[in-house]
Amino acid sequence: MTQTVTWTRRHLLSLATFSPTEYDTVLQTAASFREVLTRRTKKVPALQGQVVANLFFEPSTRTRSSFELAAKRLSADTLNFAPGTSSLTKGETILDTANTYWAMGANIMVVRHRQAGVPQAIAQAMDQLQTGVRLLNAGDGQHAHPSQALLDLFTLCTQLDWEQPHCQLLQGKKIAIIGDILHSRVARSNLWSLVAAGADVHLAGPPTLLPVEFAAFSGVTLHWELSPAIADADFVMALRLQQERMSAHLLPSLREYRQQFGLTRDRLSVCQPTVKLLHPGPMNRGVEVSSELADAPDISLVPQQVTNGVAVRMALLYLLSNRGEQA
Ligand code: NCD
Repeated sequence: MTQTVTWTRRHLLSLATFSPTEYDTVLQTAASFREVLTRRTKKVPALQGQVVANLFFEPSTRTRSSFELAAKRLSADTLNFAPGTSSLTKGETILDTANTYWAMGANIMVVRHRQAGVPQAIAQAMDQLQTGVRLLNAGDGQHAHPSQALLDLFTLCTQLDWEQPHCQLLQGKKIAIIGDILHSRVARSNLWSLVAAGADVHLAGPPTLLPVEFAAFSGVTLHWELSPAIADADFVMALRLQQERMSAHLLPSLREYRQQFGLTRDRLSVCQPTVKLLHPGPMNRGVEVSSELADAPDISLVPQQVTNGVAVRMALLYLLSNRGEQA
């Protein structure tokens, strides 16, 4: 890292108060780490001696592995926690679990929990105890998933300028987010970043899965049909139907959902000819997106999202580790 980076944020819990400068700092720092990941030795000593604890109280494949790899590539020591084999099963509280990791020397805690607000509660407890521990929200309930939105932002911006990704590039670009918006912390976090970048955001899904209050965001349009949402779109983001979070029967059937909102190459013909598809994963092939489209190398950015996730998470761990100022 050669450029001087200024970063004042202690925890990353949500993007609600992120400034354009902060977005650009993350994008530029991630671009530097992307370069590191192309080297023969894909490791830098930036977090040597620091401990990153991955506290995932909810299942995860890519986010957990991505944070672990990011921490390792920064030369941090990593601790992984699995709720099923932890002392939570003996009645220990989440805060006591966090205190245990702090006492072991954790400097950064990456937290995922199915309840909104848990990462924030741990951050407050750590601040009260003046531990200096940094918290990174890796997804809390339906609330927020900031690192996913930041890797999506990086993926979108690098499509437009590979060398110098910055938010301004998305000004006026039409971005459609399709599917289960109601249960999606990914959609909520993406709304903050895309609106801040000045994108023309269109949300579409069945009325039961599309909260009308999102229309209050300036620059956001809601649709109950697919075609107007994706017409002339530069980018389309598909979301998974989060059936594990649905408390009521919000859909007639998966078949009907696929007929109305399932994305296929054919359906994307109304978009810009250069349209690209994003999906945060995990995908339900044949439901929100056809298998053919998900694997189409000319349209699908899904593998790039996963690859970019490591560089973006390296950037976040690096910035939060309080070493940004010393870059
Ligand atoms: C998402 C999540 O967990 O919120 N996945 C992810 O982190 N890449 C989306 C989902 O579960 O559908």
